[in-house]
Amino acid sequence: MISIVGAGKIGAVIAFLCASNGLDDILLINRTKTKAIGESIDIVNSIPDTSQFSIHGTDDYSKLSGSKIVVISSSVSIYLKTRVENLDLQVNMIRDIAKKIKQYCPSAIVLIVSNPLDVLTYFFHKESQLNRFKVIGIASSLDTSRFHHFLSEKFNVPLSSISNTMVLGEHGDTMVPIFSNILINNTPLLSKINEHEIDLITKSVKNYWKELRKYKSRSQFGIAKKTYDVIDAIINSKELEIPAAVVLKGEWGIKDVSMGIPVKINSEGVFEIQKININEKELALLKKSSNQIRNNIKSVQIQG
Ligand code: 2OP
Repeated sequence: MISIVGAGKIGAVIAFLCASNGLDDILLINRTKTKAIGESIDIVNSIPDTSQFSIHGTDDYSKLSGSKIVVISSSVSIYLKTRVENLDLQVNMIRDIAKKIKQYCPSAIVLIVSNPLDVLTYFFHKESQLNRFKVIGIASSLDTSRFHHFLSEKFNVPLSSISNTMVLGEHGDTMVPIFSNILINNTPLLSKINEHEIDLITKSVKNYWKELRKYKSRSQFGIAKKTYDVIDAIINSKELEIPAAVVLKGEWGIKDVSMGIPVKINSEGVFEIQKININEKELALLKKSSNQIRNNIKSVQIQG
């Protein structure tokens, strides 16, 4: 069973993708029970006739029992200017959810989507004490798609002509688009771009969500698809290589923070943290990003 905590804009689309692709039984949990039930009785009609799976909505966490995967896409309130706006409230929310997951489905793989992503992944792991490779924050793969999109527009080439695109570090203002490995039609990107252009693209990637919010209240489809891809890899035992947030214990020379780094995922969760070569400047930015996340973690006022 795939359980999704938070049946809002993102959780509902993740549920829809899982249901319409007949992945597994789905449980939608929301603090407003009618919302969870409403989404489930709408989404149930998208389940293929050939599938034996079902979807149910509830506000009862005890129903998490038996979950193979739990996605956390809930939030206590909407943030407007920065993803860390509701830091304390979000951390206290994730600690409560962690206690419930530990109680009802301690062997589940947990995918975190709520913001601030890196800090919440860290606190979920700390509270639940689940294996760190089974607590995965999904966001850097979304940032990577945004980066890929801007490169495709700038060089007027299809996405498929660009390889090795990756964004690492915080899902926030210190995220680090990695330019040094990118090939465009097999030519190194760095031979085609100057520092000013690198800065402009970096800013566009960082500010993508703010631009989007000029037109709609929040993003949903990109992050839902990235989360679905991970669920599909876990359920169908596929190997997936993406940047995602896990708690680091010295990998990349960084410890006691969670942040986006390249990982390999299969049916067991993360099975390898990859080390790739990036240039000195990018490495320094990545260290800076980890320090920013650490400062955010330290600033949290824990309740209870
Ligand atoms: C996004 O990047 C806001 O984290 C959300 O779209």
